[in-house]
Amino acid sequence: MGMGMGHYRLSFLIVLFVGLLQHPSAAQTRSCARTCNLYFRCSPYYKELVWAVVDGVCRVYQNGCIFGSENCTRVNQGQSPLSATSPEKCKEFCPRRCPSVGPEVCGWFPYINSNGVNSDRSLAFPNRCLLEQYACRNNIGR
Ligand SMILES: *[C@@H]1O[C@H](CO)[C@@H](O)[C@H](O)[C@H]1NC(C)=O
Repeated sequence: MGMGMGHYRLSFLIVLFVGLLQHPSAAQTRSCARTCNLYFRCSPYYKELVWAVVDGVCRVYQNGCIFGSENCTRVNQGQSPLSATSPEKCKEFCPRRCPSVGPEVCGWFPYINSNGVNSDRSLAFPNRCLLEQYACRNNIGR
């Protein structure tokens, strides 16, 4: 009985100690300010397209909020910031040659229908390149 209580107290102390070690440090708290949670406040339905050539490929963003969030994430990861361009200029950089096979991806395309109701459709593509090409050529923001 006495032996059992001793073990119980010891494990309680160990749990407490590990708990203290895992408490978020000041450094971890600071890093929160650098994360980009903007995306979660962006409406994917609101359409005001922003065009940007990203790493040599034209990307269409559904609106400035999503574009800004993506830019923030890139800058925090040490990548070059995004720079918006005209649709005409951007479309010169739609993916041209895509493989015909690959890991299938699902494209999700949100929009507001003619009755003003948030809607979406999804289409499967053989790979990400073909999805990007489709969105780029058909002016579909994501
Ligand atoms: C991208 O993010 C950087 C850093 O926050 C900012 O200085 C720059 O103005 C942003 N660029 C655009 C086009 O929003």
